[in-house]
Amino acid sequence: MLPDKALLESVLDEVRPLLGEGKVADYIPALAEVPSDKLGIAVCSAEGGVIGAGDWHEPFSIQSISKVFALMQAMMLYSEEELWQRVGKEPSGNPFNSLVQLEFEKGVPRNPFINAGALVISDMLESRLSAPRQRLLELMRDLSGNAHLISDKVVAASEYQHSARNAAIAYLMKSFGNFHNDVDQVLQTYFSHCAIRMSCADLAKAAYFLCNQGVTLGGRRLVSERQTRQINALLATSGLYDGAGEFAYRVGMPGKSGVGGGIIAVVPGEMSLCVWSPELDDSGNSHAGTAALELLAKRLGRSIF
Ligand code: DON
Repeated sequence: MLPDKALLESVLDEVRPLLGEGKVADYIPALAEVPSDKLGIAVCSAEGGVIGAGDWHEPFSIQSISKVFALMQAMMLYSEEELWQRVGKEPSGNPFNSLVQLEFEKGVPRNPFINAGALVISDMLESRLSAPRQRLLELMRDLSGNAHLISDKVVAASEYQHSARNAAIAYLMKSFGNFHNDVDQVLQTYFSHCAIRMSCADLAKAAYFLCNQGVTLGGRRLVSERQTRQINALLATSGLYDGAGEFAYRVGMPGKSGVGGGIIAVVPGEMSLCVWSPELDDSGNSHAGTAALELLAKRLGRSIF
């Protein structure tokens, strides 16, 4: 069974009382200005139809959700061997911006979805693409079918002004030889990717390839069926940082969160989803958004497990 609009609306109504319990990300000052009571959900079915409820057409900062699509791009540009010698496939069990494991593990990040891993992926994109900022934006426009998407320069600049921790991560990796380009340039690329603005509708459509064995909503194959399964496996184990186990237990779908309050999720073969609520829990994942996905999964009787 797939959800209908009435079901999505009732899910949002049920989780709305949770608004006020989380905290909007404020370490990027421009993100702190987003109204905390926004709430939206969109679902794209395997047949390609999109439905939604609440603020599902309103764009927000995709932040770490961009890491999924940057990984997809890296998979298109590098061999499996080249890619996975630079970044691991294991859950980190640590916050998304943690530095601690990197020192012990010789500058090789645990997975592509924590900041260290995404910075290595951005470094790899910088090495092979002449305009990596523009190319990810174009990929997101293509996948979502929305030619008007932009990367918010104010948010990117705001993050750049508070980039000490990400810069420290990048320099530590450089000291181990696992970072090849100019740190400042790669940071700006990474922030530009994070600052792309998309709605729940855009993101549910962009994530469609994950439920459709690698074929996009526009009918193009960008990654293989096997690569799509690999991305979904990494999302299930590492997409929600140190909250990945809790998310697997409660929601039961591969997913990826961002500090803008968005979460994408996928039921392979059936649907791709996106929720948005800016208030975050202690792991940096949307508080009401997780609850909405949990409730929807329960109502639909869906889990990949
Ligand atoms: O690197 C950062 O801090 C942000 N641009 C992205 C972090 C993020 O979205 C983590 N997600 N929960």
